[in-house]
This record gives sequence, structure tokens and C-alpha cells, in this order.
Amino acid sequence: MPKQIAVSGIQASGNIHIGNYIGAIKQFIELQEKYKLYAFIADLHAITVPQDPQKLREQTISVAALFLACGLDPEKTTLFIQSHIPAHVELGWILNTLTPIGELERMAQFKEKSDKQGVLAGLLNYPTLMAADILLYKPDAVPVGEDQTQHVELARTLARKFNTRFGETFKEPKALIQKEGARIMGLDDPTKKMSKSASSANNYISMLDSAEEIRRKVKIAVTDSGSEIKYDPQNKPGISNLLVLMSQMSDTPVKTLEEKYANKSYGEFKTEAGKLLAEKLTPIQKRYNELIKNPKEILEIMERGSKDAEKIASQTLKDVKQKIGLI
Ligand code: TRP
Repeated sequence: MPKQIAVSGIQASGNIHIGNYIGAIKQFIELQEKYKLYAFIADLHAITVPQDPQKLREQTISVAALFLACGLDPEKTTLFIQSHIPAHVELGWILNTLTPIGELERMAQFKEKSDKQGVLAGLLNYPTLMAADILLYKPDAVPVGEDQTQHVELARTLARKFNTRFGETFKEPKALIQKEGARIMGLDDPTKKMSKSASSANNYISMLDSAEEIRRKVKIAVTDSGSEIKYDPQNKPGISNLLVLMSQMSDTPVKTLEEKYANKSYGEFKTEAGKLLAEKLTPIQKRYNELIKNPKEILEIMERGSKDAEKIASQTLKDVKQKIGLI
């Protein structure tokens, strides 16, 4: 039986932090064994909020290098840059013509991002481009963080709508959501998701923070009242978040960690947590630093991926155009 297909993207904006790693990249590494995986850098999504051109270029290469440093293998996984495949935008446009504005205005991410700045049409249409990213490859599964489930749902709705109107074309994929660890919270405010746009850099651990920086940030992470090391996200969001981080980064169940640290103070626990996270990121950073010396080679790998992805994407698009009457 041929492998099932999975597709996912990651935005190229800002620093990739450990929450992005756990929520996305780490999951990709596991999925690449089981699925035919298409993993791309969503640079066209990044520009739905204003970006500095030079920074965007650097970030794109940096995320590509991180993909490789974390263990995504271009021999197994098709790695590429979204903007290299025009079919994404073309299908995105076609899907826009099937999407009521009201549905886009209802999206939680749109509502959240649009009250922070003047609303750009690109931001409103973010989800139709994402639906195109997905549907082009006719995947079975779409690994995403839980904040993206609404967008995957829209992709399913559009697939159904298109199929009903123009004949069977798209597959309705399911969202693959990693339950625990899908939401890593901010270190300085464990009631909100870790975010690269947080006002303080103490909110997140960047994948490229030095070991010392990581230990420092964990040391000053907000903890809760009480003294027990226990997973209880309601009453102990800070400690629970650190437990999940450690659990995810060491592939150890939270239960085991609770037992291990049962008699330790918050201070001792945080020292251990900082040490572990720094240790886990160091080898990734070593590989990253090697790779990033040669951006041309990284781009070449991405371009090889584009060629591979393009074959499928252009076939789907051709079929779509023909079905809707474009000549
Ligand atoms: N919107 C996704 C995020 O912010 C990134 C993304 C863009 C994506 N296109 C996609 C994820 C297609 C899955 C499939 O995380």
C-alpha cells in the first residue's frame, strides 16, 4: 500500500521557539517515517503582516536550516518554500471565489490579529491560501497546532463544496493534533500560549538561545503558589508547562517526571529543567550553525523539494482549472 500523505507548513516570521518545535517540527520528524510528508515554509503567509524584506529572507533560510538541523531528511520528506510554487496562490485565488467573506471574518486567528492593526485583505484571505496549500497535495492528514484546526476545517469545507459543485477532485484531510504539548505556554505568563511576538523575550525559548540564556529564562519562569511538582494546568499552569516542556524534549511521560521531582523544591526543579532543555537544544544548534554557513546549499535543497512538490501541485491545479472552465 502506498504511504499516506501529510502536508504542513510553518510560518517564516520571527524566531522559531521551542513551542513551535514541539508543536510542529518535532511532530514532522516522527511523521516522516510513516507518511509521505510535504513540509514547507509559509513565506506567503508570513507577509500577511508587514515584514522587513531582508529579515524575511534571513528568516526563511534560517527556518529551512532548522528543519534540516532538527532532523527533517530531504531524502524522505519533500521540503520546500511556499512561494516557489505558484500553484498555491492560483488555487488560493480559485478557492476565494468559493468562500463567503463571513466565514473568513469568523476565524479566530483573523479576529485576534485584525484588532491589532489595520486589516489587510491578505490577512482575511490567509485561510483560503492555507486551504490551497493543503488541498493541492490531496493529503490524508494535516499536522497542526490546535489553534489551526479551524483553518483545516475550512479546507475540508471547501474540498466538499468544490467536489459537490464540480465533481470529485479533492480529498478531505483530517487535522492531526498532538494533544499534550500542542500548546506550550509563555514562561513569563503560563496562561497564554508561548509567542515570538510577546513583549518580553523571557516569554519564549528560541531554538537558537544559548545554553546560558535558556537556563536563565527557565530559572525566572513564573511558577505557581504551593510547592509541589505536579501536573495541574488549572491550578499550576507554570509548573505544568515546565513539566510538559521537559516531557516533550526528553520523551519521558509527565508522570515519571512528577515522581522523579516529587521531593524537590521549585528552585531545584527549575534548575534541572533549564539544564535539560539546554542539553537537548545544543546538538540541534551545532548542526544549525554548520548548515547556516552555507545558505546556497540550503536553498538548493529547498529547490529540489519544490521540483518534487510542483509535479503534484501542478497536476491538481490543471485538473481544477479544467473542471471550472478555465481554458
Ligand atoms: N497557518 C499555519 C500556522 O500558523 C502555517 C500553515 C500555512 C500551514 N499553510 C499551512 C499549516 C498548511 C498546515 C497546512 O501554523
